[in-house]
Amino acid sequence: MAEIVVKDLSKTFDGRSVIKDLNFTVSKGEKVAVIGPNGSGKTTLIRMISLLEQPTSGDIYFTGEKITGAVEKWRVRRRMAVVFQRPPVLNTSVYENIAAGLKIRGGNRRNFATWIEGVLRDFNLSELRDKNARRLSGGEKQLLALARALVLEPELLLLDEPTSNMDPENSALAMKAIENTKATVIIASPTDAVHRQMNRTITI
Ligand SMILES: Nc1ncnc2c1ncn2[C@@H]1O[C@H](COP(=O)(O)OP(=O)(O)OP(=O)(O)O)[C@@H](O)[C@H]1O
Ligand SMILES: [Mg+2]
Repeated sequence: MAEIVVKDLSKTFDGRSVIKDLNFTVSKGEKVAVIGPNGSGKTTLIRMISLLEQPTSGDIYFTGEKITGAVEKWRVRRRMAVVFQRPPVLNTSVYENIAAGLKIRGGNRRNFATWIEGVLRDFNLSELRDKNARRLSGGEKQLLALARALVLEPELLLLDEPTSNMDPENSALAMKAIENTKATVIIASPTDAVHRQMNRTITI
């Protein structure tokens, strides 16, 4: 079964059409890049799939279930993780930022702390462990947001230019992590640097 089906999706802002009759399907575990110039609607698409924005018309299905207009949005959202270009972070340490999401989403695992330490190491964040996340640089915040999203082991990972502020080394590390996740991934990007690592490209 297709993981995501986007059917005749359109979005209009103030009478101006941003996305018009968009159709595509993403299979389970597939990793696709959504590309298009500035203002082509990439962020809007990510926001509609994550139920933060309502389409003007058309529907989105997630594992067969129509999620557009879903009443219990939280039930759909907890199966996804979203990383925005300028990710909001909690006003607490880097460690607690990663731990917080896990605690909310049933993080009653053994070796909780050891596990998070491992994640911090994997994402080059060990030295920043106790730093307040609000004071991180743009690239560091993006690393944190990606780490925080991946530890949730979401079925669907939605990424909006997640490496745009990262240096080449961290960007490579992030792309490796994205490649290796079992999650279905939709990544929005204006450039084709990330596309080679994805299974497929959707142009909007
Ligand atoms: N809430 C809103 N109200 C009005 N117009 C909006 C709103 N959100 C987005 N738009 C418009 O919709 C268009 C698409 O915006 P969007 O942010 O989805 O583009 P994008 O492809 O992500 O661009 P970029 O590459 O710059 O990130 C833009 O013209 C933008 O001005
Ligand atoms: Mg955008």
